[in-house]
Amino acid sequence: MSFSISGAEQILRPDRDGRPYLRGDDASTQTLEPGGLSVRDGVIATLQDDPDADLRFDARGCAVIPGFVDCHTHLPFVGWREREYEQKIRGVPYEQISRDGGGIASSARALGEASDEQVLAQSVTLANEMLASGTTTFECKSGYGMSREGELRALELARTLGSRVAQTTTSTALLAHSVPPLYSANEWMDEVETMMPEVVRPGSVAALDIFVESIAFSNEDLTRMGALAADAGLALRAHVEQFGGLRSVPVALAARARSVDHLSTLDDDDIAPLAQAECAAVLLPAAEFLGDEHRAPGRELVDAGAIVVLATDANPGTAPVFSLPVVIGLAVRLYRFSALEAVAAATLNGAWTLGLQADRGSIEVGKRADLVVLDGPVEQIAYRFGHNPVLAAFVAGEPVFVRDDARARVTE
Ligand code: NIG
Ligand code: FE
Repeated sequence: MSFSISGAEQILRPDRDGRPYLRGDDASTQTLEPGGLSVRDGVIATLQDDPDADLRFDARGCAVIPGFVDCHTHLPFVGWREREYEQKIRGVPYEQISRDGGGIASSARALGEASDEQVLAQSVTLANEMLASGTTTFECKSGYGMSREGELRALELARTLGSRVAQTTTSTALLAHSVPPLYSANEWMDEVETMMPEVVRPGSVAALDIFVESIAFSNEDLTRMGALAADAGLALRAHVEQFGGLRSVPVALAARARSVDHLSTLDDDDIAPLAQAECAAVLLPAAEFLGDEHRAPGRELVDAGAIVVLATDANPGTAPVFSLPVVIGLAVRLYRFSALEAVAAATLNGAWTLGLQADRGSIEVGKRADLVVLDGPVEQIAYRFGHNPVLAAFVAGEPVFVRDDARARVTE
């Protein structure tokens, strides 16, 4: 099966092949030349269109970019928490909502009460929404299980979700999200340690994750989670510096974290060490905007040379947002990113965070043809804030989403 895109106004490419991520000025060296490309057996074969391809897409007036990689979501989950949003608008802090039994505990109750099919039905619908916004790879997390059985079930649901959607998914075991009832944080970490053989055995979990916050787990627990990840050969991810300012980044770097996520209250002194590390700074501006959180030093992190990543944080509490174009729009305005910096952060850098940079995240010969065609230039993604610019999305060269007004562009 061959596929070809022709006549694009812009094709976004890194300045050279083989870069694992784009940090500092690298994002600005990407190119946006007009042209086409061809795909064979799901892989980008040439950077020229092929008029004889089995399937052809006429991309006149369009931009072609790599499929978005959303490296931080909390799918699968079930239910919503719009009442909490109303509370937040009235000024009740997230920590207070959480202490009152809302927050993560509320989504944990919903998950516990729902059938597998209910969870999967909602999650598949959301994954399809993500596809229509150009996300061709996304990360799933557990974390609403809140018990040994619940967490293992959540990981199983994540696996099943991955088998029911067009995207590639990865699974992160967020085993320390909220301290379950009747446990101290330390006792729960003991339990997590005993769960590791079952978490690792199916072979589908890529990373461990922890929420470090006054209402959740401590820097000591983060160090312990890092040791568990290292023993199991898994990556360490960490939710840090969302509300509290606990100076968790040096602790995460010492634990060799693959990423530190949120960073809304990042200390200025931690910017340079993070920027020099092989650790992604995952920024979640939708959570910051909707929760009226502090703003992560996004511009400063890019300027200091960090591997800066953008993700949705899609979850029913802090960020019921599934669109990376919306996240890019927020990031360009709030962090003063250029269009090229923002797109790199939501494609190749997201792929690196998930360990998938070798075969996706940028348009290069030999990489999977996970591609998105936009209805205008890349610079319009942020500018036309709230507009979904995605005309079509392709996973391994297969058209998995084509907007109604783009159907005439497809020829077989
Ligand atoms: O990344 N902060 C911790 N975890 C999620 C929120 C989860 C929830 O509120 O359900 C986050 O923002
Ligand atoms: Fe999160």
